Order: sequence, then C-alpha cells, then structure tokens
Amino acid sequence: MHADKWIFGYGSLIWNPGFNYIKKYPAVIQGWVRRFWQGSTDHRGVPEAPGRVVTLELQEHGVCWGMAYKVASADVENVINSLNIREQGGYSLKKLKLLKSVKSKNGVIGMIYIGKPDNPNYLGPEKSEKIAEQVINARGASGPNAQYVYRLADALRNIGAEDPHVFEIERMVKDIEKA
Ligand code: SIN
Repeated sequence: MHADKWIFGYGSLIWNPGFNYIKKYPAVIQGWVRRFWQGSTDHRGVPEAPGRVVTLELQEHGVCWGMAYKVASADVENVINSLNIREQGGYSLKKLKLLKSVKSKNGVIGMIYIGKPDNPNYLGPEKSEKIAEQVINARGASGPNAQYVYRLADALRNIGAEDPHVFEIERMVKDIEKA
C-alpha cells in the first residue's frame, strides 16, 4: 500500500496534469533552473524534426516554480504508470524538496520528471534564437511546439512566476510568427 505522494510539474504538467489529485499549489524547487534543452520526438516533434521542451538543469542559487500536486495513496500507482508512459521520451523520475516559497524552511518531497543529459533525446544548450527557430518548425502528436511554449509561459504568468528563459523564448517565437 502506498502513502499519498506529491508530484511536481514544471512543464506541460503545470497546465495539463491529466491525472487525479487531492490538492495543488504553486511550489518552487531550489538549485535548479528550467531550460528548453530536452528534445521531443513524440509530443512536440518527430524524430526528423525534434521539438524543444523543458527539463531542469542544476544551477547554484537557481529557482524553478511549478505546480505541486498531492496524489491520494489509492491513485499513486496508476498515476505514476500513466506518467511514465507520457514522459517516456527521455524523462526519468527524481525526488526533490518542494517549497511553498523561496523563504520556506520546510517542504514536502515530490517526484519530478527530469530529462538528464544522458538520455537519447537530450539536446542541451543552444542560442535562444536557434531554440525559437527549432520550436517554430516542430510539431508532434500533442500539437505545435510553439503552443507548448505559449501555454507554459501563460501558466507561469498565472502563478506569478518569473522565468526569463521561458519568456525570452516565447517572445522570440512570437516575433518569428509575426515576421
Ligand atoms: C513536467 O511538466 O514536469 C515535465 C516536462 C513536460 O512534460 O513538459
């Protein structure tokens, strides 16, 4: 029998969790930053033209805001099984501490999907202009890569989260679309 568990979403899991949860609240993890460094050959791209989706990178003093979801013990197994399928394009599970604010001392341990540098779809750092161009040209089973960028940026604004990297890519993608 499982206990209730916390899951932290920092990408599509913020605006589209797709699983049952008891409660949710915006949460922050420390020592990590969100980057469009993970390739997507399923949801937001195809193997010939991978999209760019977010992963987390270690950075001293970095912060990353997202959504913490509490999943009831009875649902934990099903939720993790379905997320393992959804996130199978290179993400693996990690446990990190979730805080309600950067000043909080106590948090909960949450499960997080991270695209580590040794996964086959990892793309790594690139100039923002190049990332934006790649985004514009990619589309996968879940829709256009640009839509992922816009939804993520909107979801972060909705929880009052700052993320210069995400907002810069959003602006560049919009500029290319308008040109
Ligand atoms: C997440 O949302 O936490 C993982 C990355 C994604 O599915 O976009």
